[in-house]
Amino acid sequence: MIIRTMVAAAALAVLAGVASVQVGAQASTAPPAAAGPTFARDVAPIFYKNCTNCHRPGEIAPMSLLTFKDARPWARSIATRVAKGTMPPWHADPSHGEFLNDRRLTELEKNTIVQWVNAGAPEGSPADLPAEPTYATEWLMGQPDAVFSMSEDYPIPAEGTIAYQYFEVPTTFAEDKWIQAMEVRAGNPSVLHHVIVYARTPPPAVPPQAAPPAPSAQPMPRPAPLFTFPEGTTQIPAGQTGGRPLPPEQRKPLGPNDRPAPRMGPSIGGFAPGQLVRTYQEGSAMKLPAGATLILQTHYTANGQATTDRTRIAVKFARARPQTEVRFASLINGSLHIPPGANDFRVDAEMTISQDVTMWSMLPHTHVRGARWTYEATYPDGRTETILSVPKYDFNWQTDYVFKQPLKLPKGTKIHATAWYDNSKNNPSNPDPSKDVFWGDQTWEEMMYTGLTFSIDAAQATPTAAQKQ
Ligand code: HEC
Repeated sequence: MIIRTMVAAAALAVLAGVASVQVGAQASTAPPAAAGPTFARDVAPIFYKNCTNCHRPGEIAPMSLLTFKDARPWARSIATRVAKGTMPPWHADPSHGEFLNDRRLTELEKNTIVQWVNAGAPEGSPADLPAEPTYATEWLMGQPDAVFSMSEDYPIPAEGTIAYQYFEVPTTFAEDKWIQAMEVRAGNPSVLHHVIVYARTPPPAVPPQAAPPAPSAQPMPRPAPLFTFPEGTTQIPAGQTGGRPLPPEQRKPLGPNDRPAPRMGPSIGGFAPGQLVRTYQEGSAMKLPAGATLILQTHYTANGQATTDRTRIAVKFARARPQTEVRFASLINGSLHIPPGANDFRVDAEMTISQDVTMWSMLPHTHVRGARWTYEATYPDGRTETILSVPKYDFNWQTDYVFKQPLKLPKGTKIHATAWYDNSKNNPSNPDPSKDVFWGDQTWEEMMYTGLTFSIDAAQATPTAAQKQ
């Protein structure tokens, strides 16, 4: 009884921050008081949950954190990055909105790691080590239902600018499929800057005896556009320059290795550094139409060594037709013009939504001069709310911010996006502060692009004609 009280008192003293506690001789028979955190007992579980999906052999991070041996040499750097909040990578301001894919550690987890490092990063008892996570396949998503691969090892020269290239990958499904999760795996991450995946539907087969339309038939009324944009803003299709003619040096004839843009279809997914798997919530999925051809729009950046790339895409399908069809849209200001040297230059874009929609995620995208972003929704009742703020935008980490509570946006809601750019010499990533910067594909040009996933509320749970029969 005495012993217990003394141990409890010692524990209380520790909690109260008393540095050294004299415990009576009797206490030596008690189990040793919990020492500081060890790798085996306290740190490994945090790494397995929050780090090793990137920090393991063959993944995007520079070193593995799977074992004590792997992690120990990095202890100092780990403490610094974790304390600063720069690892795991996450750039949204937590005071606006909550996100399903938030990678941040809890304060408790951060403190455990920092204390472990400060105490000399001890291994602890191997008996405490939890089972190492198993990564079923090379795919982060686990076993995919289908994998689509570029059909060639595309050659990337050692230097020079590489125009966007387009690769077609046929799918051969006889019926529509519903994508629950998609993962794009760069064949060569050191040169692949981004991929956007489009799905082109085959042209409808013309029934042989289709009656010609009656001459008096009224044309179908065109549905009102879902999104409207203010006068004077430019919404540019992917891969175009902002309405300006290409500068002469870019007006290159196609080379033997160029794979120009074919007929496209709607975008169904993508990859950029930092964005690994996109999973749609239970009951929602992205449609992959029967017989679609995937088109991979790829942006390669030469890195000094001639190499090749063959990128692959893995998907998991929903088991049944989802209640909600998730779609892509984009919000763009293509007329941006950033003056030389401007250190905090603001560019805006806006759209009004003309039907009730649910917004699932937003992906802000600028190139290397992008500094920060905010998004505001103004509802029909006049209320305005910041729905996403990215105060330290980092070009190296393109994140699709997935709302924990998808946003219900009634008809008439305005979404206003603002991006700020640093075209001064103080921006270490700025390739040339003396340049006027316009919209363009290449990283020394700029973009003001937001990828959105949304669903139309009225369309929800509407059975298709086929299901009604
Ligand atoms: C989404 C992928 C991802 C996750 C999750 C992630 N990292 Fe990283 N980490 C990277 C990449 C990529 C780099 C290299 C680029 C950079 O330094 O930002 C990196 C760099 C680091 C570095 C710097 C290494 C150096 O050169 O000194 C440390 C330390 C680190 N990570 C620790 C962690 C820890 C600890 C966790 C989990 C608590 C974690 N990371 C989670 C991808 C990730």
